[in-house]
Amino acid sequence: MSTLVSVAELGAHVGGEVTLRGWLYNKRSGKNVHFLEVRDGSGTAQIVVGAGDVPKETFAACDALTQETSLTVTGTVHAHPKRPGVVEVHGTGLTVVGRPTGEFPISPKDHGTDFLMDHRHLWLRSKRQHAILRVRHTIIKAVRDFFDGRGFTLVDAPIFTPNACEGTSTLFETDYHGDPAYLTQSGQLYMEAAAAAVGKAYCFGPTFRAEKSKTRRHLAEFWMVEPEVAYMDLAGDMELAEDMLVFIVERVLAERRPELAVLERDVTKLESVKKPFPRITYEEAIAVLARAGNPAKYGDDIGGDEETLISSAYDRPVMVHRYPREIKAFYMKGDPDDERAALCVDVLAPEGYGEIIGGGQREDDLEILTRKITEHRLPLEAFQWYFDLRRYGTFPHAGFGMGIERCVAWICKLPHVRETIPFPRMLNRLSP
Ligand code: 4AD
Ligand code: MG
Repeated sequence: MSTLVSVAELGAHVGGEVTLRGWLYNKRSGKNVHFLEVRDGSGTAQIVVGAGDVPKETFAACDALTQETSLTVTGTVHAHPKRPGVVEVHGTGLTVVGRPTGEFPISPKDHGTDFLMDHRHLWLRSKRQHAILRVRHTIIKAVRDFFDGRGFTLVDAPIFTPNACEGTSTLFETDYHGDPAYLTQSGQLYMEAAAAAVGKAYCFGPTFRAEKSKTRRHLAEFWMVEPEVAYMDLAGDMELAEDMLVFIVERVLAERRPELAVLERDVTKLESVKKPFPRITYEEAIAVLARAGNPAKYGDDIGGDEETLISSAYDRPVMVHRYPREIKAFYMKGDPDDERAALCVDVLAPEGYGEIIGGGQREDDLEILTRKITEHRLPLEAFQWYFDLRRYGTFPHAGFGMGIERCVAWICKLPHVRETIPFPRMLNRLSP
C-alpha cells in the first residue's frame, strides 16, 4: 500500500511507496523513459517513469501528457543519483485526473506583462509566483506573530466608512443604502478608539486608495497592518517599527531561503537589516537631497525618486521623521520643539524601494484637532465619534501603517507591486 504524501514530505519516505497528487509542470522524454516534473503546491518533484516499470499503456499515455494535466502518481522514493539531499520518485502507476482542453496559455517561454496579468489566475502556478506567494504568507504570519507576542490585541476595522482618513482625493465612494460611504483608506481612526480599550491594538485588512497614479508602488487595493499604542510617543513608535521589520526579515531568512533563491534575491542585503536603523529628520533629508543636486526644499512633499536618493546611503531601512505639518494628514501631532514639524515618521526601505511605513504620534488635543479638520475641509459631523476619544480621557498615542505589498516587493526585490498580491487591483486593472 502506498502512502499519500505531499512533495514537501517526500524526503521522509525514502525507500517507501508513495502517491502524489498534483499537476504536470514539465516533461522530458527519452525512448525508454519519461521524466515528469510534478508540482503539488508544496514543491516540485521529478518522477522517473521507465518503460519497464509501468504497464505499456501507462508508458504510452505519458507521451500525450501536456503541461498542467492534473494527475496522481504512485512510485517509490529514491535519493537522486547526483544531487545530494534531493529525492525523486520512480513511478509505478499514473492516473490522469483532468486533461487540459488545449495548450496551457503560460508556457515556460517569455510572455509580456499584460498577457501574464490577464492570466494571473494561471500565472500563480509558476515557480516565481509560487515563491512570492509563500514569502508573502510568511511576512503576514511574522507580522501577526510579532504583535501577538507583544501583548497586542487584533481589532478589526470596518471597510465601509463615513469619512476620509488619508485625504479626499483618493477615496472610493460607494452607495450605502442611499447614502455615500467610502471604502476605507486606513483603519487608523478606529485603532485609536481600540487603543483606549485594549492599550495595544492592531488591525490588518484590505485598504483602498483611488490613486490615479500608475507607479510601481501603487495599488488601488492593498493590505495594511496598523498598530496603535496608548501612551506611546514618536520615539517609541519608531522603535516598534524597527523591531517589527527586523523580526519580519529574520523570519523570512529563517524560513524562505529556497523561495528567495528562486527569486534570485541577494540575501546578504537582507542580512544587514539589523538594529539600529538610522533616524534622520526631514530637514536633514532635504539637506542630503540638496547635496545630491536635487531641487527639493523644506516644505516639499518628497516622492519616490527623492526617497531613493535619501535611502541610497544606507544598507538598512532609514527612518525620516518630523515632516512639515502642512504636507501631512490632519491627525498628526505638532512637534512642541519645532512649530513647522509634525511628530511623524516615514520608513524608507533600502535598494530604492522608498516608503513602506508611515505613522506617528496623534493629535490628542480636541481644540487643535477640530481646527486641523476644519483646515483640511473635512466634515466635522463625520468626526464627532473621533472627537469623543479626546473628550473622554484623551491620551498620548502613536501608531503606524505598513503596506504589506510594499514590504513584499522590497524583501523579494520585485520590480513592481503588481506581483506581490495574488490578484492586484490597479488603475487599469480589475480582472481577473
Ligand atoms: O502613509 P499612509 O497613507 O499612512 C496611513 O494610512 C496611516 N493612516 C497609517 C497609520 O498610521 N495607521 O499609508 C501607510 C502605508 C504606506 O507607507 C505604504 O506602505 C502603504 O501604506 N500604501 C500603499 N501601498 C500600496 N499602494 C498604495 N496606493 C498605497 N498607499 C499607501
Ligand atoms: Mg505615507
